[in-house]
Parts: sequence; C-alpha cells; structure tokens
Amino acid sequence: MCGIVGYVGNKSSLPVLLEGLRMLEYRGYDSAGVSLAYERDMITVKSKGKLCELEKKLAERNIRESLCGIGHTRWATHGAPSDINSHPHETELLTLVHNGIIENHKSIEGFLLREGYSFVSETDTERAAKLIDYFYKQTREPISALLEAKKTLLGSFAFGVIFKDIPSKIYALRKDNPLIVGYDSTSSYLASDIPAILPYTKRCCRLSEGIVAELSSGSISFYDKPFSLADEKFEEVEWTCEQAQKGGFPHFMLKEISEEPSALRSTVERRLDSLPPSLFEGDDSILKCVERISIVACGTAMHAGLVGQNMIEKYARIPVSVEIASEFRYRDSIIQNGTLALFLSQSGETADTIAALRKAKELGYPTLAIVNVFGSTLAREADRVLYTNAGPEISVASTKAYSVQCAMLALLALNLALLRGEMSEDKVKKICRSLLCELPSAVESVIARGEEIRTLSQSITDAEHLFFIGRGIDYSLALEASLKLKEISYIHSEAYPSGELKHGTISLISDGTPVISIITDRALAEKSLFGVHEVISRGARVILFCSEDIAREASLPHCERFILPKCPSSVLPFVLATAVQLFAYYTSAEKGLDVDKPRNLAKSVTVE
Ligand code: M6R
Repeated sequence: MCGIVGYVGNKSSLPVLLEGLRMLEYRGYDSAGVSLAYERDMITVKSKGKLCELEKKLAERNIRESLCGIGHTRWATHGAPSDINSHPHETELLTLVHNGIIENHKSIEGFLLREGYSFVSETDTERAAKLIDYFYKQTREPISALLEAKKTLLGSFAFGVIFKDIPSKIYALRKDNPLIVGYDSTSSYLASDIPAILPYTKRCCRLSEGIVAELSSGSISFYDKPFSLADEKFEEVEWTCEQAQKGGFPHFMLKEISEEPSALRSTVERRLDSLPPSLFEGDDSILKCVERISIVACGTAMHAGLVGQNMIEKYARIPVSVEIASEFRYRDSIIQNGTLALFLSQSGETADTIAALRKAKELGYPTLAIVNVFGSTLAREADRVLYTNAGPEISVASTKAYSVQCAMLALLALNLALLRGEMSEDKVKKICRSLLCELPSAVESVIARGEEIRTLSQSITDAEHLFFIGRGIDYSLALEASLKLKEISYIHSEAYPSGELKHGTISLISDGTPVISIITDRALAEKSLFGVHEVISRGARVILFCSEDIAREASLPHCERFILPKCPSSVLPFVLATAVQLFAYYTSAEKGLDVDKPRNLAKSVTVE
C-alpha cells in the first residue's frame, strides 16, 4: 500500500526518488508525486496514473536540481485517484507523504476548520499534514510537532516530511506501517521497503514505532522526545540489487517463478542438516506442548496455510484450523489450551495479519510466524519466527513466497511428526531427502515446459468464467490456482471441491465452460475423475493438471492436459503449484495485461 521514498545528500534528488518509486511501484500505482526542496521554495509535482505519467509531467517542466526530496506512489484509500488527492500534500509550512489510514480524519478536520484551515483534497493525509503544520506553527520545532500530532492521530501511518524552513532534512515517523532508513557517507535514504534503498546501501534500519528519524546528508539521528536522542539498530541486508530487478525477464512474476527451485533449496537445505529438521536452532520448546494449531493469514499465504493443514494433519496428526486474518481479528474466539497460533506472511507487514497476531498474543496463545521479510513487524512481534529465505518478491501476485511457505510448513509437519512419534525417523528422512534432492529439480522441469503451459493457457484467454476443481490437498491447490488466475487475468474463476459441484454450482456449467481439474492425490484420483466426467457430460471443456502415475494408471477422459513430471507424492503439491502459477502468468501475458501490477491491487496490504 503506497510507496514512500526520500533522499537528502550531495546528488540530485529527483533521479534517486524516481528510481526508488519505480522499485516501490508494486505497493500502489494509481498516482504518484514528488516534492523537491530548495533554499527558498518547494516544488511539488503529482499525477494520477502510473509513475510514467508523473515522469511525463516532470519532463514538461524545467526542474532545477534539488538535493533533498520526498516521493510517493499511491494506492487510494480516501479519495479517488486524482492529481489533487495524490501525495505529497503541501501545506503552508511543510510537505508530507503518507502510507496508512488516519481513522479520526473527520474530527481533525473539524478542529482545523475552527483554527482557520481549509482543504483541497478528499484525503485523510491532507488532514494529517495540516495537523502537523498546526503544531509546527506553535513551536517551530519539528520533532515536537510530529510527536504532538502523533498523540492526536488514530489509525496507521508512515510519514516522510520536509519542513519548508529546513530544506536540507527529512523527518520520518511511523505507526503500524513500515519505514526503512539508511545512509552512506554523503547521503541518507528513506523508503517504505528495502528494494528502494538497496542500490545505495545495505545498512538499513527499520524505524521503531514512535521514534522520529531526522535524515541529513550522510547521517541520521533518532529522537524519542524533543532534544532526546534515541538508539536505533542498523542491520546488514542480505538481499542483492539483482534480486530486486527483472534480470532480463519480461515480468517479475516470471522471474520469481523461475527462482522457485533455488528459493526452495535455500529454505529446505539450511534446515535439513540434522534430523528432526532443525527449525529453531535447538530450542523447539514452542512445539513441545502443541495439541492444536490455528493458522492465520491472508490471500495466498492463507492458501499455503491450507496446504500446511493437509500436511500437518497427515504427518503429525495434529488438528489444524485455517483462518482468514481479517475474520480472526474480530471473531469472538474460543481459546483452547495447547493451541499454537501460526501466522504466515510474505511481507510480514499485512495489517490484518498483524492485528490477528496482536489479538492472539492478548488471548495468551503462543505465537509463531513464518515470514519472508527479515525484521518485518510480524517477525519482530511473534514469540518465534521462521524465515523462508525466498529473496525479495516484487510482483503483486505471490508465487515463490507461496512455494517456500508450503515447504516450511512441510518441515514443520515433519518436525512435529517426529516429536510426537507419529512417523519413524526413516520415513521422515525419506521425505526430507525428496524435499532436498527431488523437489527443486522437479520444479525446474516444470518451468522448462513453460511453452507447453503457454499453449494450454491460450484456450482460456477469451473465457469470462471458469472453475477449478480438486479434492483433498488438490482442492487447497485449486483455491490458490484460482486466486492467481483471477487476480492477474481478470477472468472470473472459482475453486470447488469436485464432490461439491453437484450441490448447486454445476448448474453454471454449460457448453464450453472451462473447468480446470487438478488431480495429484492418488487416493482420491478415482473420485476426482467422477467429478471430471460429471462436468464433461454437461458440456464443460476440461483442462487436466494431473500427476504422471495417475495419468499412467487411470483411464483419463479425452481432454487437454498437463502431466506433471514423475516425482514422489510429497513433492507433487509444489510441482503442481508452479505449473498453475505459470498457467496464470501466461494467460495474463497473452491477454497483454500488466502482469506485475494488476488493477486495484497492491503488493503489501498495510491497511485494514
Ligand atoms: O504479505 P502477505 O503474504 O501477508 O500478503 C498476503 C496477501 O495480501 C497476498 O498473498 C495476496 O493475496 C497476493 N496478491 C496473492 O498473490
């Protein structure tokens, strides 16, 4: 949700801001803007639409070089995407960019109207900017103005601010939304995510809540009160610049799918040098008394949770429930002793998942987070954290992050199975070997057959509606396949358990309706094929994604198909996931859509 960048140093700020915004455009892309500070004035340029629209506007003007500026790429919450609603919002004394939602913007507006302020945009952000302006007028002291405003503001925010009479400094403050700061010998950088800073420095600090960062050329100071310096921790980021760039691929999504074999290898390898899989470096006390697991997540991460549910129940015989975080956070939950609350998230910054984690902690659950982004809010707030090591994921559609979440859940399931004596060491070793040796190469072999999948996808590019069907774990996989396809191809799609169609939905099947059937679970294959015959006899055009052994042994109907490479059953869900991700990718690419930035979406959903 919204990308923030800031630069102050000895370089011209505009190119740094634009490059940073390009790296953050995945966070929101319905409008963009920059403010550039000068000794005696400030220039703000903003535009509705993607970053290229802002660049066109900037190119039309003769912009003087400025050494300090802030920029923003927006995902609209209050007020439609428009030039006027875009950030930065300038006031008499400052300019400000914001990520988040100010919940009490109405009452702030009432207060400011009485104080003589007026408003030009519909945004909550303009109200926040003018509130800070109001406090700054009282003291002309930036730290106290920001901290005073913080006392009044309800909701979530990450701010980047330049005060017009201090044109060589940027101030930053956050609550419930991330902000990263970093510096080198001549410059300081502000961003809402690491990729925007990576080309310049790898020493980054995730700003703590309520601390004001003051960025100057080549140094950053932190304050917890006016005139009171605070200590903040800098870390060395492991990610490389190349990981955050397309590297010759037409889209980040295709690049990220192609990284799945190495991401899986890196997630699994470092935890399989001993048995049981070493997840917690010796201290696995959090797993000792687990009698139930409640998995909580959103979107694709929640679908990974469903795959995890299948594996944990099958291997470790522990009951698992999977909940959507936005439901969990408001549900009147019944706490049962022995429940581990497990949170899944690529970004570690999803607002609903963070709120659910906080609620679980309040209720007294032990909490574990499986997260991709190092040092993110979920990682810091959960009792324990497992990192998935997939590297940065930029495309809005999550792919490699899902695969590695599933892999981590498989390791967790095996760990629990051994701890509880539900599986022999030999059996666990055998599955671990498959995950380590056969999984990455099986996924590689699916990626190598991209052209075959592209051809299959051509038969659905004109479809308006379609169905995915599957049973057991194949139904969980179908849910994710369906989400992936609809979010980037705009084809309406629904996933159904094969046996459930006949209870209503089959009435939607008519001549030519595409139905994509997923069959990898051998125990359920015959039953799944019933479902396929049922829809074929009502006119459906079926595309089958099926494992090699089932294709060999069962009598498959006459239909288009993709047969997965021969591999152990423990590896099949991952291989299938890659195949359907590619299917969604090629459908969207064939339709000429913006694969990495689908409409109305943003990568990291940091607002409720
Ligand atoms: O960063 P998170 O994993 O917490 O994000 C959760 C969802 O917002 C995310 O998976 C979303 O569903 C993706 N657009 C799916 O491709």
